[in-house]
Amino acid sequence: MPNMEKNRATRNRTIVLSDSERTDLKKDLCQLNTSSSVDEVLNKIYNQDLLEAIDYLPKHFVDLLIIDPPYNLSKDFAGFKFKATDDKTYIEYVRCWLPKVLELLKPNGSIYVCCDWKSTSAIYQVMSEYVTIKNRITWQREKGRGAKTNWKNAMEDIWFGVLNDKDYYFDVASVMQKRRVLAPYKVDGKPKDWIETEDGNFRLTYPSNFWDDISIPYWSMPENTDHPTQKPEKLIAKLILASCPRQGIVFDPFLGSGTTCVVAKKLGRHYCGIEINEEYALLSSKRLRMAEENKDIQGYSDGVFWERNTLSLQKKSQKASAEQ
Ligand SMILES: C[S@@+](CC[C@H](N)C(=O)[O-])C[C@H]1O[C@@H](n2cnc3c(N)ncnc32)[C@H](O)[C@@H]1O
Repeated sequence: MPNMEKNRATRNRTIVLSDSERTDLKKDLCQLNTSSSVDEVLNKIYNQDLLEAIDYLPKHFVDLLIIDPPYNLSKDFAGFKFKATDDKTYIEYVRCWLPKVLELLKPNGSIYVCCDWKSTSAIYQVMSEYVTIKNRITWQREKGRGAKTNWKNAMEDIWFGVLNDKDYYFDVASVMQKRRVLAPYKVDGKPKDWIETEDGNFRLTYPSNFWDDISIPYWSMPENTDHPTQKPEKLIAKLILASCPRQGIVFDPFLGSGTTCVVAKKLGRHYCGIEINEEYALLSSKRLRMAEENKDIQGYSDGVFWERNTLSLQKKSQKASAEQ
């Protein structure tokens, strides 16, 4: 990816790095080679192998782990090649990092691990040895490659676990969804649990474990990068708002293009992340700098999560709230 200039359409908002930016952004990247205190590691990005860095991080300092590891698929992460393997070997791979990462979690902390259908049983197996599994979220991605001899894959799982089932943070009120009401029901002529607006009828609903309102970042979105498996900011925002208190600490050991840290910063949480690939670590640091100026998260505004394809409504609502 470095120095590979692509021809991009004028409306393409993909975040890219120039050579001069790379030199400047390198100053933000860190390396861990000695035991460090919580204050020393807060709001840092480490550009190294997770297994080289992890023993130097403090224990039990993290409120929330968000983990998006290489899935059991052959994939080229800009030079770091992950090769699909059998289930047993993938389980061994997960076992070599997951217990170590869990040592970073506070006793009342939570963990989310992303995976696809092929990796999901391995993740569940290893995770359930260490934490209480609370749920499996299924994210319906609208994108997926069609196959002539199989069903197209258009979903991912996100396993949710906690260290202590009797004591963990969960703020459902911060992740309510604003949905259109298709069959508006009235009692005594008044809307029941929904509101009438000039743009339609809406209801605030509790979020379920089936997420069908989140698009994969694409070229016209301001958060998009060339990372091949970048997660949407909207998806990570739900995890952070629900499971990490304000000023709490979020850790991501496979940071990629930086989504977890960027969203944590936008939402007033502390962060720490590790990414082995320099180009992706630099993209993370560019996005973190951009988040100083712009804290918008597409699909989340006025404290609620909106359905897909409602950007114009969101802008209208934001404008109305700003004018009040
Ligand atoms: C699935 S991607 C994460 C994408 C990320 N959630 C985002 O939104 O961009 C996994 C990332 O882990 C990185 N990675 C793989 N092995 C690693 C290791 N041992 N230590 C640190 N990072 C690693 C890869 O370079 C890749 O960017």
